[in-house]
Amino acid sequence: MNADELLKETADDYRVFGTVHTKGHSPAYERIGVAVAASPQLLERLAALPPIKRQPNLLLAAVRYLGGPVDSGEAFVAWALGHWQQVRPVILARATQTNEAGRCATLLPLLASLPQPLALIEVGASAGLCLYPDRYRYRYDDGTAFGADGSPVTIPCATTGPVPLPEPDRLPRVASRTGVDLNPLNPADEDDARWLESLVWPGQQARFDRLRAALSVARATPDPARIVRGDLNARIAELVAAAPEGSTPVVFHTSVLCYLPTEARQAFTTTIRELPCRWISNEAPDVLADVDALLPYAAPTERGVNILALDGKPVAFTGPHGERLDWFPR
Ligand SMILES: C[S@@+](CC[C@H](N)C(=O)[O-])C[C@H]1O[C@@H](n2cnc3c(N)ncnc32)[C@H](O)[C@@H]1O
Repeated sequence: MNADELLKETADDYRVFGTVHTKGHSPAYERIGVAVAASPQLLERLAALPPIKRQPNLLLAAVRYLGGPVDSGEAFVAWALGHWQQVRPVILARATQTNEAGRCATLLPLLASLPQPLALIEVGASAGLCLYPDRYRYRYDDGTAFGADGSPVTIPCATTGPVPLPEPDRLPRVASRTGVDLNPLNPADEDDARWLESLVWPGQQARFDRLRAALSVARATPDPARIVRGDLNARIAELVAAAPEGSTPVVFHTSVLCYLPTEARQAFTTTIRELPCRWISNEAPDVLADVDALLPYAAPTERGVNILALDGKPVAFTGPHGERLDWFPR
């Protein structure tokens, strides 16, 4: 790709971010995505970064982490250009590690349907906030909230289709919580928490409040998740082997495999099918071709969705942050 094509590709990514991905979710990021796409100076700096570091979420989180403005697209661009010496190192040092406890609302029906207790094993766990599904409360549609008594986290989720919701007194029982991440974040570390907060899009106050509440759950828990550092392909077999006897090992991942090259994704799906565990995936369309091939109908294109699957068989479309669960007809 020549320099002009690279600039155009980077501009397109930011334009799509502003006009599709954040549309209706974050007016500030809609404006900023479009403004960055129209700034040749900022695009040049972004294009000089390694490909994985050009992502809109990373630039936007870095500027917010450093205290930059997000109220206007032009002010954002001017600030990012003027502070590039500080912005660039944050982009290079950090990664998109958005940790969304809300996704537990989409995992819960599958987790509750498996033989209990569970050895939860999350690959790409970030700070591990999805490893506490038994410590949160859930409200599906307009129903009564249920879940862990006194939890500061209540996750709302809109549903369609025959979702096999668990009985309120049948939450998953968790025997162990482990995970792997290239860079595990520590819920008790103020800097890590501030980075996670910077990754929540402006205007999404409910998600911001949920993040803070979920971090407080993770900090206070008597049985914190053990998250090892490393590549998921390198560490998964040992994590499954360490599951406590008598438990059901469940390997799960949400919004993770998109960050892996195709060959690494394939290596993972081959391994996981051979390991003695159950497997829950919650990834965007086009990430797992074998799962996509079994969809009963095409994924909607007008809004972002993930595909929820158990042992490689798709069961539902889900909202990217756990806000929706559209179960397929049986
Ligand atoms: C977008 S976050 C999702 C975090 C969490 N699963 C959730 O849904 O809230 C993706 C995470 O995957 C991790 N990750 C990406 N590639 C990885 C790899 N090859 N091995 C282990 N972790 C990886 C990143 O470090 C990041 O923390």
